[in-house]
Amino acid sequence: MRYMLTGADWSADEAYRMGLVQEVTAPGQQLDRAIDFAKPIATAAPLGVRTLLSSAHRGLSESEKLALSDIATGICSIAEKPGSSGISACTAREPRAGLRGALALPAHSAPICSPRYDNGSARTCSAVPSSPFSASTRCRDCSCGRRDAALTNGQNRRNQMKALDDEQQVNRLPVDDPGFHQSWFPVARARELGSGAVLGVDFLGTRVAVYRGPTGKPVVQSAWCPHLGADLSIGEIVNGQIRCAYHHWRFDDAGICADIPTGGKIPRGARIFTYPSAEAWGLVWAFNGERPLFDVPRIPGIEEREVAFEPHLRGVRPVPHWVPTSNGVDFQHLRTLHNLPTGAPEAIEVLDYSIEYHIETASYRQLGLITGTNVSAQYLRRAGVDSFMLFAGAPIDQQRTRSFFVVGVRRDGDGDLRLQIDGLRSFVEKLLAEDEPILNTMRFKQGVMVASDRHLSRYFKYVSEFPKYGPPGP
Ligand code: FES
Ligand SMILES: [Fe+2]
Repeated sequence: MRYMLTGADWSADEAYRMGLVQEVTAPGQQLDRAIDFAKPIATAAPLGVRTLLSSAHRGLSESEKLALSDIATGICSIAEKPGSSGISACTAREPRAGLRGALALPAHSAPICSPRYDNGSARTCSAVPSSPFSASTRCRDCSCGRRDAALTNGQNRRNQMKALDDEQQVNRLPVDDPGFHQSWFPVARARELGSGAVLGVDFLGTRVAVYRGPTGKPVVQSAWCPHLGADLSIGEIVNGQIRCAYHHWRFDDAGICADIPTGGKIPRGARIFTYPSAEAWGLVWAFNGERPLFDVPRIPGIEEREVAFEPHLRGVRPVPHWVPTSNGVDFQHLRTLHNLPTGAPEAIEVLDYSIEYHIETASYRQLGLITGTNVSAQYLRRAGVDSFMLFAGAPIDQQRTRSFFVVGVRRDGDGDLRLQIDGLRSFVEKLLAEDEPILNTMRFKQGVMVASDRHLSRYFKYVSEFPKYGPPGP
């Protein structure tokens, strides 16, 4: 069993999903509580002490962190705090040599910066609260020179889990790696983005402002103003540029500050990160990176202009974005869960940034396409009718996904298009309603697999190798 003692960094749901048992301890009591736990565990396994105290480290105050900064070498002396006992095994039973290196805490040559969480999503530096964090091993945004505690501890966590998994022979997907997949993510429905409107969207563990630039093209930018960190999404669009509500600094669609009303030279750092963006299938997409690695997601076997379609927001799901996408190559669940008389392809074609498959039977034809790790699209021909579906999710953070879907039929098809789209939407909503109770509550892992899971296994490998980035900022 792994035990995590924490202040407020992880919710009980997140801890449960990571295979951890969690206890939330009142502020100021974490150190004593950690030592209470360390004593009996140390008696049985020094390995457990290091794991426990490494986790406890996250929930401590700044002064307590300093007290524990030498924990890797001083673990025994900490446990010998007056009144503690039962730590003699600490020197008697060292971890195996192979595990020792993986579990050692880093030498903290720089103080740790514990980012604050604003509205549960945006991280800002604890030394300079107005400074948004990006994925760096250091708090580069505010130049405080501190380490990013979340990432430092994320690395520790992975090392600990790897060591424990090595022992337990458990396969684990890298769900808690820092950064997010470099993919095209849907941030809004295009129709929400009227001229002059600004949307604020929690995305990639941070927040973005979404609006239409001077040409009407969607713009997706970091929402944090580089002046004092105001949320730009509550600002206004002036001449196609976003203006901060606070001191009226204005930024163009490339993120460069175009105007500071008080005059003077505009500093070089007065800019906001601008994501590559696009509009397709009724959705506004943002690519997580400086340049797209691949094209905007599509539905196979058809061009957008040939389809009468509708985009829908499905809502927030408490799972990483790549979990619902796995449904696209989980062919057996179509029979067992959805009761659909379907088959599975002999093979799926795994490319660098997509997965394709093709099923041809006497009763239907299906082309499937997974793009990135968050978009699953299908063309289905059945009883002479063509249907088009796209399912896409965007990470709010590492554990929550905002989901969208698109349904469409041929523009030039026979019959009432409205009726056909409504019928397809009902079909898709029924499938989602069957999937969600399971996907939203499962403790997801790549467990014991059988031959019929081969396409799923290949998908998990593809996900684990997919490039990551950011989140970029500020
Ligand atoms: S905080 Fe945005 S202009 Fe001052
Ligand atoms: Fe499903």
